[in-house]
Amino acid sequence: MVGLGVVLNFIGCKSQNETKNKTQNVSKMEIIKENFGTTTEGVTVDLYTLKNNNGMIVKITNYGGIVTSLLVPDKNGNMDDVTLGFDNLQAYLDGHPYFGCIVGRYGNRIAKGKFELDGVEYKLATNNDENHLHGGEIGFDKKIWDAEPVENEEGVGLKLHYVSEDMEEGYPGNLDVTVTYMLTDENELKINYEATINKPCPINLTWHGYFNLTGGKEKILNHEMEINADKYVVVDETLIPTGELRDLIGSEMDFTSPKTIGSRFDKVPGGYDHTYVINKSSSEIDLVARVYEPTSGRVMEVYSTEPSVQFYTGNFLDGSLTGKNEIVYEKQVGFCLETQHFPDSPNQPSFPSTILKPGEKYSQTTIYKFSTK
Ligand code: GLA
Repeated sequence: MVGLGVVLNFIGCKSQNETKNKTQNVSKMEIIKENFGTTTEGVTVDLYTLKNNNGMIVKITNYGGIVTSLLVPDKNGNMDDVTLGFDNLQAYLDGHPYFGCIVGRYGNRIAKGKFELDGVEYKLATNNDENHLHGGEIGFDKKIWDAEPVENEEGVGLKLHYVSEDMEEGYPGNLDVTVTYMLTDENELKINYEATINKPCPINLTWHGYFNLTGGKEKILNHEMEINADKYVVVDETLIPTGELRDLIGSEMDFTSPKTIGSRFDKVPGGYDHTYVINKSSSEIDLVARVYEPTSGRVMEVYSTEPSVQFYTGNFLDGSLTGKNEIVYEKQVGFCLETQHFPDSPNQPSFPSTILKPGEKYSQTTIYKFSTK
């Protein structure tokens, strides 16, 4: 049960012209902390509500670092919740397909749940048929993170910290991870990940938000999708890469110019669940995708430092879960754009390395920017 919130910050930002034009520009940014419930082990979990000066709202719990709500204006200024999830902790504890959570240590699959590093074979949980998925049985999506509200010139945020001990879920090394969510006045949800380790280990962190820019009023098939990728990672029937990066131009995989998600759905058995290889420029952060939903006018742009994005159309949703606002989560009710490294990189020598070594710093940044047209 969500109790009465405590306003942690009420930030009085003033515009640069304030003295000149004598207008009073009182900040509407705030962070509210509420009790979100107690885990089965008796640990209390919180829910933080972040609000920017435009009234955009993001709710985040320190259980799994889950973004439970994302309230974004449409072209008429009406707010809708554009992310899938629940309004109570118990529903998350009961099990869900990674709604809005931080995924680690390794997002997506590792073949047969094993990899070799410096001559040692490491065994991981096989929690997705014969493969390892999203960090194992109790991945970062189910951990309780230390949380600290943040306010700076960009906006309001929440800094989450977790230490994953040596051999947790079979992965070597003590990994120290910080994930900071910032809600900016540019209507961006900006996620910054940093990590260090004391033994080499594959690391591939991502955020598993599901979006529906109609606010759940319709399925996602009429959303217009553009993905900045000329190639995708070919996978076998267990969704493990074959090693081939295939040109997609002109095929049903091609989103280099805007196409509705549903336009070629009949040619993609089961729906999209593919890793797109981002066309990287010389800048550190590149456009990954742009999504436009015509009825609401909402636009979401995704930018990232990562080499690829997993475009997933909720193919495994089966109507057995009902989320916020009584929306039944059936197939194609939400889509994900998970920015990350390629699946199974620890077993694929031709893929960019995901090994984090002692003395190095893992860092990745991804921005989900909302606007209307
Ligand atoms: C990722 C994977 C999918 C599926 C979902 C979770 O997006 O690519 O195959 O496992 O996570 O249901």
